[in-house]
Amino acid sequence: MKILWNDKIVDESEVKIDTEDRGYQFGDGIYEVIRIYNGLLYMEEEHLERFFRCADKIRLTLPFTKEEFSQRLHRFAEEVGIKNGRLYFQVTHGAAKPRLHSFPDPKEVVPVLTADIQEISRPMEKLTKGISGGIVTDKRWLHCDIKSISLLGNILALNEAQENGYDDAVLVRDGIVTEASSSNLWMVKDGVLYTHPDGELILPGITKIKVRQLANQLGFKLVEEPFTKEFIVEADEVFKTSSVAEVTPIISINGKNIGDGTPGTITKQLQKAYIDAIEETVKKM
Ligand code: PDD
Repeated sequence: MKILWNDKIVDESEVKIDTEDRGYQFGDGIYEVIRIYNGLLYMEEEHLERFFRCADKIRLTLPFTKEEFSQRLHRFAEEVGIKNGRLYFQVTHGAAKPRLHSFPDPKEVVPVLTADIQEISRPMEKLTKGISGGIVTDKRWLHCDIKSISLLGNILALNEAQENGYDDAVLVRDGIVTEASSSNLWMVKDGVLYTHPDGELILPGITKIKVRQLANQLGFKLVEEPFTKEFIVEADEVFKTSSVAEVTPIISINGKNIGDGTPGTITKQLQKAYIDAIEETVKKM
């Protein structure tokens, strides 16, 4: 597999990461996942914007501009040549020695970038049949808006849901539904869409931006306000969104059917609108 390692494209066997890299030691870094459809880096601009915003939040001075970074990613995607897949990239605060909790001096320690592209297909079975959700207490930190590589809180939540026999976690903090373990969560009640507002308790999803636009275009009312665990279990429809999961129906929560236990009509309309929007953008390339 080819890896973009800082400004070089190399074979994965050539990559050397220092054991004192702050990403490796502290989880001190940020990442992005961009879906590639037909060679198109879907919603690249929005992903790069979030990436640069997150870099600021962790006081990381990126050694390139958005434009330079975009060119570097395009050169990498062209060289790898995978037309349908996902691009993963992360930047850490670099290797500061000796290990010290304080941020390193950006003049002395350079950030470390790695990226890879892997072939993936759309999760058709999950998209058509839906998945199950299990309520898990959201015990993550209060910087969930930062796309941090420290994902232990999310991983523990997913594993707790899976240990209980569910596909994904429906995270609940102080009685309020926040998101899923690696996706944003939405519900429909009496024709109205609900999702948690952006802020420090969830990751502001890029797919969420698109689904918000599509919901508006389709004329659905969308309420971005906190809602409770009791409200979501009585929903007519529930779904989650992410660059990889797209618009995935959640057909049961804690073993109780949502609606009739099949993907709902508004969910299906949004799924179709989402893929239509991708096809439109691909056509314009
Ligand atoms: N996850 N919330 C969380 C906690 C996430 O990790 C993600 C993305 C999202 C949706 O973000 P977006 O629509 O920008 O993909 C929401 C990625 C896909 C991952 O970690 O693999």
